[in-house]
Amino acid sequence: MKVTVVGTGYVGLVTGVVLADMGNDVVCVDNDQEKLEKLRNGVSPIFELGVDELLRSTIADGFFRVTDSIAEGTKHADIVFIAVGTPPGPDGTPDVTAVKAVAKEIGRNIQHYTVVVNKSTVPVGTVDMVEEILIGQGCPREMFDVVSNPEFLREGTAVWDTKNPDRVVIGSRSEQAAAKLAELYAPLEKPTIFTDPYSAELIKYASNSFLAIKISFINAISRICEARGANVQDVAKGVGMDSRIGPKFLQAGLGWGGSCLPKDVAGLIKIAEGSDYDFALLKAADDINQDQTQHFLRRMEKRLGGFTGKTVALLGLAFKPNTDDIRDAKSLEMIETLLSKGAKIRAYDPVATENVRELWPQVDYVEHVYDVSDGADALVLVTEWNEFKSLDLSRLGACMKQKVLFDGRRLYSKANAERAGFEHFTIGS
Ligand SMILES: NC(=O)c1ccc[n+]([C@@H]2O[C@H](COP(=O)([O-])OP(=O)(O)OC[C@H]3O[C@@H](n4cnc5c(N)ncnc54)[C@H](O)[C@@H]3O)[C@@H](O)[C@H]2O)c1
Repeated sequence: MKVTVVGTGYVGLVTGVVLADMGNDVVCVDNDQEKLEKLRNGVSPIFELGVDELLRSTIADGFFRVTDSIAEGTKHADIVFIAVGTPPGPDGTPDVTAVKAVAKEIGRNIQHYTVVVNKSTVPVGTVDMVEEILIGQGCPREMFDVVSNPEFLREGTAVWDTKNPDRVVIGSRSEQAAAKLAELYAPLEKPTIFTDPYSAELIKYASNSFLAIKISFINAISRICEARGANVQDVAKGVGMDSRIGPKFLQAGLGWGGSCLPKDVAGLIKIAEGSDYDFALLKAADDINQDQTQHFLRRMEKRLGGFTGKTVALLGLAFKPNTDDIRDAKSLEMIETLLSKGAKIRAYDPVATENVRELWPQVDYVEHVYDVSDGADALVLVTEWNEFKSLDLSRLGACMKQKVLFDGRRLYSKANAERAGFEHFTIGS
């Protein structure tokens, strides 16, 4: 099929290369010339496992190309995906400015029947907004249908997730459009939910908010564990083995961050408000999350006797492993608090350093992981990268002023840390 994807971010690019790899004729559109230049040279502008390879092979096979012209992309395709960012506005309401701008340009250029697909995470009713924009641009109603097809991929495993989704959600009022999209996804052979567009839009927010509530729940339990001498890992294991609950998203840590959960939770709280409903449960989950890293920092501050003049070494900056994305990363909150309280910071991340350096140039970034702890008063595990699991803790501790380890992701056992001479603090025990 002829497919266009507008937006070459984590969602748009991965969707584009995977669809191209499935044999579709794909055009990806972006207005960021730097990204386009890299893409034309077969280089992914984002760090995501497998994307570079798919990019190079699909370009070589003639199934994938990029352009900055939505007009060209619209004329090319039978299906046009909108996969641009929908960041939170100042009060948490999702900002759909980019979706509107893209829809306008699509509306001006539709020349044959086109299925316009909202893949961006958008508030309930955005389907109507896009329809009105297309009509407002003079596009005859019979020339298009707008479908909601939310995305559930996870950064770090985005290619695998796109090829192996738990479900495909198609929210459409038109059978013709739903059938066209179902045909595109048919080779994946995954369960498909056909529903109306409003329900599809809500499925995305409800899924992410449920995951956020699950994490906040176990983080709340972790506070009781700390106070009462229980171990949250064992509690989570015992709870998660109940098949009605399940073990995933039940790991206590510094809380949820990233480009999706915080903004989608804020978005659903606003959607609820607009529906005359006070989503107190979700607000409480958000409050728990906001306090989780601060609570860990307060424990650190107490142990170190204040942060002024202390050097804190951060292991990991990305919001989670296997990505360079730092949007709403817990590392940023830590850096802000530590610097405001007079600490010096050294930091190491396998891929996200440059993104953080742009925001916090005053941090001392190191190239080699074992240099991070040099002269530090505390070592803080922020992101649970695989390569951190087997670090030689004794070597890390050897050059520290004080051998204190704050493990924000429960990566190191107390026994191992103590064997390496560390005083060990973690979440939930
Ligand atoms: N990142 C994730 O893990 C994830 C998962 C599921 C859903 N989503 C949702 O998918 C959407 C996209 O997220 P993302 O993380 O890929 O965003 P992103 O910021 O990584 O990418 C958005 C891209 O759109 C481009 N863009 C913006 N305005 C444009 C315009 N007018 N014309 C052409 N290109 C334009 C930007 O240059 C950028 O490359 C969001 O709504 C997000 O909530 C994201």
